[in-house]
Amino acid sequence: MGAGIAEVFARNGVEVVAVEITAEALERGRATLTRSTDRAVARGRLTGADRDALLGRITFAVGLPALAEVDLVIEAVPERLDLKRRLFADLDRICRPAAILASNTSSLSVTEIAVATGRPDRVVGMHFFNPAPVMKLVEVIRTVTTATEVVGAVQDLCARLGKVAVTVADRAGFVANALLFGYLNQAVAMVESGYATREEIDAAMRLGCGLPMGPLTLLDLIGLDTAYEILDTMYRRGGRDRRHAPVPLLRQMVTAGLLGRKSGQGFYRYERPGSGTVAADDQAVAAPVEGARPVRRVGVVGSGDVATGLADLFGQAGYDVTVLDPGGGLAGLADADLVVEAVAEDLAAKQALFAELAEVCKPEAVLATTTGMLPVIEIAMAARWPAEVVGLHLLDPTPAGAVVEIVRTVRSSAEAVATARAVCAALGRTGVVCGDRAGRVVDALLFPYLNDAVRMLEASYATARDIDHAMTLGCGYPAGPFEVLDAVGPDVALRIQQRLYRESREPGLAPAPLLEQVVTAGQGFSGRSAG
Ligand SMILES: NC(=O)c1ccc[n+]([C@@H]2O[C@H](COP(=O)([O-])OP(=O)(O)OC[C@H]3O[C@@H](n4cnc5c(N)ncnc54)[C@H](O)[C@@H]3O)[C@@H](O)[C@H]2O)c1
Repeated sequence: MGAGIAEVFARNGVEVVAVEITAEALERGRATLTRSTDRAVARGRLTGADRDALLGRITFAVGLPALAEVDLVIEAVPERLDLKRRLFADLDRICRPAAILASNTSSLSVTEIAVATGRPDRVVGMHFFNPAPVMKLVEVIRTVTTATEVVGAVQDLCARLGKVAVTVADRAGFVANALLFGYLNQAVAMVESGYATREEIDAAMRLGCGLPMGPLTLLDLIGLDTAYEILDTMYRRGGRDRRHAPVPLLRQMVTAGLLGRKSGQGFYRYERPGSGTVAADDQAVAAPVEGARPVRRVGVVGSGDVATGLADLFGQAGYDVTVLDPGGGLAGLADADLVVEAVAEDLAAKQALFAELAEVCKPEAVLATTTGMLPVIEIAMAARWPAEVVGLHLLDPTPAGAVVEIVRTVRSSAEAVATARAVCAALGRTGVVCGDRAGRVVDALLFPYLNDAVRMLEASYATARDIDHAMTLGCGYPAGPFEVLDAVGPDVALRIQQRLYRESREPGLAPAPLLEQVVTAGQGFSGRSAG
């Protein structure tokens, strides 16, 4: 982060003194900076002459005394309060009395850092996002002691750097990380429990939600040690929400030196330390399609948009498709190799249909339900061969949709799952195999984050616009949480959140009262400024 922040300032014409603790660390930082600026030149985003001028504005030094004459210090040392407090006390002694001291901390209390100095009025948070030269957001943290003039100066500076400042009070995780880290931790829990693989979770969120990268790839970029510290602090400072208690796997990986890109291995292995290019490793599980049964004839039951979309999809992929209305007879499905149901999202209706399908279909036919929320096992047990039942949750039934969640129940046979995988591949979709839990992968990771955003709005910590900005400009999301909520419908979000809460009994997943009120009032979130 230090190298990235130095680059941002130098690129915008500001003289920078880049300080590290040892000569070796300084060289590492210089190498990171050189790589980043060389890449910008190679991509035509910077001329060679501008790169040289940029690098010429940076003085590299070991030790804090080099900072004696600067106007502003931005600290980006490891995320540990004791370390930061000691550093700020030293900076207070070394720097000019007028200098502003800013922390890039992601989660620690800027107030506690500020009071370690004799100038708490000149201490402020300036939270940049990774990679700092790319991400447009800076969260400016104003503590109860920060002088208004200092906040103003830092906001002006952000504008000069081409950044968008969102100014908030000193709460654990501020805006973006408070919304991001519960989601990241939950994704780690899914890996740890074997609920889905790292590749599948990442693909589900990237392709299913349009995120720039999946959660495990993002954790590798952030650094697992940094992520651990952020979660630990958020857990302790943020009301001991268990969703922020770091998943044990994270601690184990940090202990093992698997820190992510910076150490060359985290959830993925990289070509070399610092590289973002994933290299092969023995963790990659080739999607097992052996055992898949041949599928030629496909039955689709239903008459709505999903059924029509499915029929088109299978037809275009060359399958022999029979579409039947659930009200009509099902005898036409007797020789189908795969039957996909897309009838109303009602458990009793689906159970009745599966009981009937089991009478009509051949025993080796795979029976799939498209339910997004209902427990697949409850549908499967209504069929005579629950082993042949899987979930096939198309996140988007249009031909452009990319991801299909394949739900494996405790009774699903390996062949049925392999068949579903092979069919998804033939449809040109990415199949994501997961367990039979509410929300599957995507909804289980997405909706709690949306609910948290509503809670943040409800607490008047930030406006809907600032929260949306934080996620789009800080994390590269295609849309902010309130834009997403309005697009899917607050009522749909509430229903999904209620189901997640009922199944997990996790207090942190209880629907936000404001979400319930907005649904009751028949409103959306757009234009709302505060709870
Ligand atoms: N990694 C991210 O995605 C990210 C994003 C935003 C903010 N941050 C915050 O930025 C800070 C740094 O995170 P990082 O990921 O760059 O960590 P990092 O471990 O990659 O880098 C920390 C650097 O600080 C140096 N250092 C340690 N003690 C020092 C001292 N006394 N004086 C000078 N330098 C010292 C280390 O040598 C190291 O190079 C943390 O507070 C983190 O929460 C991180």
